[in-house]
Amino acid sequence: MYLGIDIGTSAVKLVCADTDRILTTSSVAIKTSSPQPGWSEQHPDLWWQATRDALDQLSGQITLSEVKAIGLSGQMHGAVLLNRDLHPIRPAILWNDSRAVQECEDLRAAQPEIGHIAGVPPLPGFTAPKIAWLKKHEPANYAKLSHILLPKDYVGLRLHGELVTDASDAAGTLWLDQASRDWHAGIVEATDVAGDWLPQIFDGHNCVGAVSAQAATETGLKPGTPVVAGGGDAATGAVSLGATEPGRGFISLGTSGQLFVADRAYKPNPERYVHAFAHTLPDRWYQMAAMLNGARPISWIGGQLGLSAAEVVALAETVSGDRVPIFLPYLTGERSPHGDPHIRACFFGLEDSTTRADICRSVVEAIAFCFADAAQSFGDSIKELPELAAIGGGSRSELLLRLIATVTEKPVVRSDGADSGPAYGAARLAAFGEGALDRADLALQPPTTDMFEPADMAPLFERLARFRKLYTAVSLAE
Ligand code: XUL
Repeated sequence: MYLGIDIGTSAVKLVCADTDRILTTSSVAIKTSSPQPGWSEQHPDLWWQATRDALDQLSGQITLSEVKAIGLSGQMHGAVLLNRDLHPIRPAILWNDSRAVQECEDLRAAQPEIGHIAGVPPLPGFTAPKIAWLKKHEPANYAKLSHILLPKDYVGLRLHGELVTDASDAAGTLWLDQASRDWHAGIVEATDVAGDWLPQIFDGHNCVGAVSAQAATETGLKPGTPVVAGGGDAATGAVSLGATEPGRGFISLGTSGQLFVADRAYKPNPERYVHAFAHTLPDRWYQMAAMLNGARPISWIGGQLGLSAAEVVALAETVSGDRVPIFLPYLTGERSPHGDPHIRACFFGLEDSTTRADICRSVVEAIAFCFADAAQSFGDSIKELPELAAIGGGSRSELLLRLIATVTEKPVVRSDGADSGPAYGAARLAAFGEGALDRADLALQPPTTDMFEPADMAPLFERLARFRKLYTAVSLAE
């Protein structure tokens, strides 16, 4: 029995799995705080507490001491800032935080080739510019800084006491030289970071520690249980679907959205903000369009209208056509393909007759349109993909998957357990690290349970063209 722990943005999710299937899951919701416009923070101790609570839930279903190995997964790019006693100095600054705009410009000027070295041009959500921001705006906190970790690695620290990360999470910091998979001294220095503040980098299946006596007392896990490095949630999501081999692609519909294609080589494409990052397994990289707003606009509009996500989608199914407004879903700015931290969401085309159903439809369509943009930014390479597997909470919506299939012109497939992808991927890395799976097993695709074929919907493409024009108009108006 193997345990995967995913430190998501909206919840900590746990999967307990055998070598070929999910046995049971648990999940504990967590909140994000935004103390100032554009800020997005969570305290690392919240992750540890939610992990303990989720383990407690799981202990009603399985015997925790029978877990053979643990793998970690987590939201990428967050800056976890620790003092010399390994305590958080302040709340972590998350992947969808946009405060470090100026620091990104400074970094581009200091390292003009950074997009080709680090796999993507600087954007405020990445880890590195946040440290330069801290130095300028919170000098007292900067003075205490001794260690920097990624979110899942903080939970690893609480489990086993080591300061470590894996290549795929290191990849999202902007400090990684993606080709050599090691920290890049010039970029580290340009963001006022000392080399020894950064953790040691491992492959995702490497055992990096064992559950300590203290963690065992706090969680009910057996002391000495091996913990593997794991991966950033994009990479662990890929492992859950067998997207470890070249040409395998998938889409993730969580709080954020991704279009991901695994590769044997490092192929930077910084112009369209396609991220070229190290995968969690050795000798593999991937290309990813990363959308900050993913499926989150569905729960956002649901929150405003007093509807659940399922009710938003059900209402959206009841209407279509030209009188549905166009929605730009950029609630927190956007990364791929715009690289635009300033853009914000808006509805266009509201009429006296616009209904709640129209609003819901426009939100669901907008998410699909972002995936059309993502596919376009890959260029011709996307044409070779036979299909896209879907994971994440948004993959529960058949309407959304049908719309994505249509606008990307690719069949979209779904498997059982699609909404616990990253945690399952982490559990599979743990099984690989323990020797219960081999690398070929990791590349196996789970059986497809549903397939959504592209539909013949010319009007939807007209609406996509209006969506793109609206972005251009609104971004110029800023
Ligand atoms: C990827 C990204 C998200 C976060 C949160 O670049 O920002 O995947 O990891 O899920």
